[in-house]
Amino acid sequence: MAEPLLRADALTRHYRVSRGLLRGHATVYSLSEVSFSLQAGQTLAVVGESGCGKSTLARQLTMIERPSAGALWLDGVDVATAESAAQAALRRQVQMVFQNPYASLNPRQTVFATLEEPLRINTALGPTERRERSADWLARVGLHPEHGRRYPHMFSGGQRQRIAIARAMILQPRIVVADEPVSALDVSIQAQILNLFMDLQAEFGMACVFISHNLGVVEHMADRVMVMYLGRIVEIGDKRRLFARPLHPYTQALMSATPAIRAADRRPAIAIHGELPSALAPPSGCAFHHRCPQASNRCAAELPLLREFNGQQVACHRVEEWAPQSWA
Ligand SMILES: Nc1ncnc2c1ncn2[C@@H]1O[C@H](COP(=O)(O)OP(=O)(O)OP(=O)(O)O)[C@@H](O)[C@H]1O
Ligand SMILES: [Mg+2]
Repeated sequence: MAEPLLRADALTRHYRVSRGLLRGHATVYSLSEVSFSLQAGQTLAVVGESGCGKSTLARQLTMIERPSAGALWLDGVDVATAESAAQAALRRQVQMVFQNPYASLNPRQTVFATLEEPLRINTALGPTERRERSADWLARVGLHPEHGRRYPHMFSGGQRQRIAIARAMILQPRIVVADEPVSALDVSIQAQILNLFMDLQAEFGMACVFISHNLGVVEHMADRVMVMYLGRIVEIGDKRRLFARPLHPYTQALMSATPAIRAADRRPAIAIHGELPSALAPPSGCAFHHRCPQASNRCAAELPLLREFNGQQVACHRVEEWAPQSWA
């Protein structure tokens, strides 16, 4: 297969945090050894409970932060070792849409100023061309070019997210990382924004890393799905396969918690008990073992590595033993 557009190789981000006076520092294991690839034009959805490291991953992919370890390759170039001019060019290729369009737009800037800023910094376009391109993008995301003179507070949440999408798209990036882009919006607006995303993707062919809690949304948007648990990938694979045959007990539990996804012929609901463990003190072995109905002694002791099984990749010691039975 051709070199992927983006490749993460054991991407890791740990944070040192202070625990207060006299208690010293601790390490938060937010993202650990995450490896995957993304092909041009493809949508990879990232799912998992709150705190499992989705936004931390987004910040590494968009180069907002530097990983503590591991590497990120864009178009075959190692981002960390590229020269600074090349690095700036790579950074332009990956743009981000944030969850909250109220916080992500500068309230003191008109929409035109917001859209023209990346053009001013990254291109040689003159003022007239920048204005034309911005007006053009407002129209593409379903707003009126006249809206460019207004300020963010004069728009609804859905309209603001349209502006944020225009800002992410205006440099025509090859990858858009969208971190829960519709979860702050009214349900009635969500579908419009998702459809806008898909229309833009069909027209411009950008790849997308789509972070969402909502498996219904994921089923609609994704080509591939990556399931994370406490900073690690537990399963990754083609959407249809993964939804039809989730291999990891955690993926199964996530899916059975979503009635719309749990088709009548699928497995009965699996309840997971207990809280997501703390990223300050990840459990030994498989981080899911104490919540897992299938766990054995080995699971408590030995970290399972991500490996091929049935056309997907899964990090579970016991998948051969129990997955086929659970589909029966
Ligand atoms: N800058 C930081 N300093 C310290 N800890 C952090 C920092 N950013 C994230 N964390 C911790 O890393 C873990 C992963 O956080 P992250 O925001 O990536 O999760 P998430 O999957 O995006 O969650 P949510 O679904 O709630 O958005 C959490 O335990 C969080 O508290
Ligand atoms: Mg997040």
